Amino acid sequence: MNGAPGQIHAAVYPGSFDPMTRGHLDVIERAAAVFDKVTVAVVVNPQKSAPLFTLDEREAMIRESVATLKNVEVTHFRGLLADFVKSVGAAVIVKGLRVVSDFESEMSTALMNRSLSGVDTVFMPSDPRWSFVSSTLVKEVYNLGADVSEYVPPAVLHVMQSKRPLRPA
Ligand code: PNS
Repeated sequence: MNGAPGQIHAAVYPGSFDPMTRGHLDVIERAAAVFDKVTVAVVVNPQKSAPLFTLDEREAMIRESVATLKNVEVTHFRGLLADFVKSVGAAVIVKGLRVVSDFESEMSTALMNRSLSGVDTVFMPSDPRWSFVSSTLVKEVYNLGADVSEYVPPAVLHVMQSKRPLRPA
């Protein structure tokens, strides 16, 4: 971990957050209990596909959901995560791991990020309650009529309801 003993240990929790789920919120809460400061960093242009929620919506939904966590801030970044974590002087990157397949991709990403920036990644195991919950699945079942209130924070549900259906059937 970067930073000498006694220094503030700042963590960056990056992601697409399209949208944030209860699983993401759980990782943020647990990271906030371990690190002095946690910066939730929303990637502007996710690699996988165009985001359904705008950057402003994604940031606002997270900000409302973490409002009571005083050592958590929310921002966004463009380009390389490695450049972002260096620019904010982060000690670590935090990533949640839900299932074994997450580990396979996250491992090489973590090693690349450490090679590029010198910043290590700390993996946080997902709470079993949320290990099957992903932004993609939440959007899919919601579009097909499911109640997703169990899987997303209230602020996210509110925005989702204002958009129903999330995409044309
Ligand atoms: O929510 P996700 O999809 O797990 O988040 C992925 C994210 C945003 C952390 C990852 O795609 C990322 O870091 N993107 C920034 C571009 C980058 O640095 N790519 C190289 C990673 S080694």
